[in-house]
Amino acid sequence: MLGIVFTEFMEMVETQFSEDLLDDVLDSCNLASGGSYTSVGYYDYKEMIQLVMALSKQVNVPVDELIEAFGTHMFGVLGGKYPVMLEGYATTLDFLESVDGTVHKEVLKLYPDAELPHFSTERKSQGHLVMHYKSRRPFSNLALGLIKGSAQYFDEVLEISFTSSQDESMYRTDFDIRVADE
Ligand code: HEM
Repeated sequence: MLGIVFTEFMEMVETQFSEDLLDDVLDSCNLASGGSYTSVGYYDYKEMIQLVMALSKQVNVPVDELIEAFGTHMFGVLGGKYPVMLEGYATTLDFLESVDGTVHKEVLKLYPDAELPHFSTERKSQGHLVMHYKSRRPFSNLALGLIKGSAQYFDEVLEISFTSSQDESMYRTDFDIRVADE
């Protein structure tokens, strides 16, 4: 997992909670990398799970909720860093449809070792998109947060439901996303 994901996670913990709490979380994890992340390095994604689980214990908020909130935070960070990737889309669903084939493809050009999930999409109608998440890593709640972050950016309200499944090494989540009626 790309270092920027870790550095932004730490930034979020520091601003939403405190520097002391971040220190406690890092201390309790006994991380293989030692926990000194750089934004352009690559680290085992399992360290992110260790960190989120430790934070969850400290603040008594479920892991899924923390990962989702982090996803929404990450959308702001990524959109701020790569505004060009948001250009040319009029609606949230148009943008979400392009994440796999355009946005993450561009990410791979910048970071060839990025570990990205796979999305396939079905556009049921103008206001209804089904998005299938597939990854070897369990970050569908990050996707949920990123989807919500996208909606905030396009100033739209979405109704999202999802179902998840998992076999030995693959995590799958089907997101059913509808633009809410005004
Ligand atoms: C400006 C838009 C976006 C940019 C620049 C971007 C870029 C990235 C980057 C750099 C990573 C880290 C790769 C790694 O750790 O090696 C990532 C991961 C990820 N992205 Fe995006 N992304 C964007 C939008 C989205 C959206 C809208 C979604 C959801 C629909 C999404 C879903 C994910 C997920 C779930 C991961 C975690 C990896 C996994 O599940 O295996 N991204 N993205």
